[in-house]
Amino acid sequence: MRLDKFVCKSTALNRANAIQLIQNGAVTVNEQVETHEFAQVHENNTIRLQGHTLTPRPFRYILMHKLAGTICSNIDEVYPSLFSATNLEHTEELHIAGRLDADTTGLVLITDDGHWSFNITTPTQHCEKVYRVGLSRPIRGDEAERFKQGIMLQGESKPTLPAKLDVLSPQDVLLTITEGKFHQVKRMFSAVGNRVVTLHRDRIGEVLLDVDAGEWRYLSDEEIASFR
Ligand code: URA
Repeated sequence: MRLDKFVCKSTALNRANAIQLIQNGAVTVNEQVETHEFAQVHENNTIRLQGHTLTPRPFRYILMHKLAGTICSNIDEVYPSLFSATNLEHTEELHIAGRLDADTTGLVLITDDGHWSFNITTPTQHCEKVYRVGLSRPIRGDEAERFKQGIMLQGESKPTLPAKLDVLSPQDVLLTITEGKFHQVKRMFSAVGNRVVTLHRDRIGEVLLDVDAGEWRYLSDEEIASFR
């Protein structure tokens, strides 16, 4: 982890104040003054700020039920951030393991542990994401096979990885994918001549959405371990 991030994660300081203190020589790493904020440090190192040993806050692992009209960003932009109506602290340290569009609802996993979220987002880990999709037109019948074979989306160099389609009714389906290309679900249905009207994520890996819209909870130890 970068030294400035370590200092922020161990104190109430913001990034600018942490950098200033580091550059002024107030921080030692294993008893040596370190003035480069981008120096890489490890939790096993002894890091002191003005003589006080720093201990980073433990990693957080959060499940949230995202509302439509919020964005998967740490700050408000055109729409409010999904953090804006929560009482979560230090949200600047958190990132989202697989973003949803502003109009998409459902399950979002949030953490400050980059190694853990990598297992969720990288396609080589084959972590399943299940979406409930409302469509503008009835399913034709060949979509499941085409999604299983992989669809070449516009602007991509490789087809999508095999995906599973379960038809609940002609305009209401479940799609399971293991990657997260930009607008992937919408683009997949567009490629087969349909249009996504509603989109909701129900499951990531073994974790199911079980809180009300707008609510969040910490993941259990078992849920955290299921992505390792
Ligand atoms: N695919 C999309 O098109 N949008 C999302 O929000 C998630 C997956």
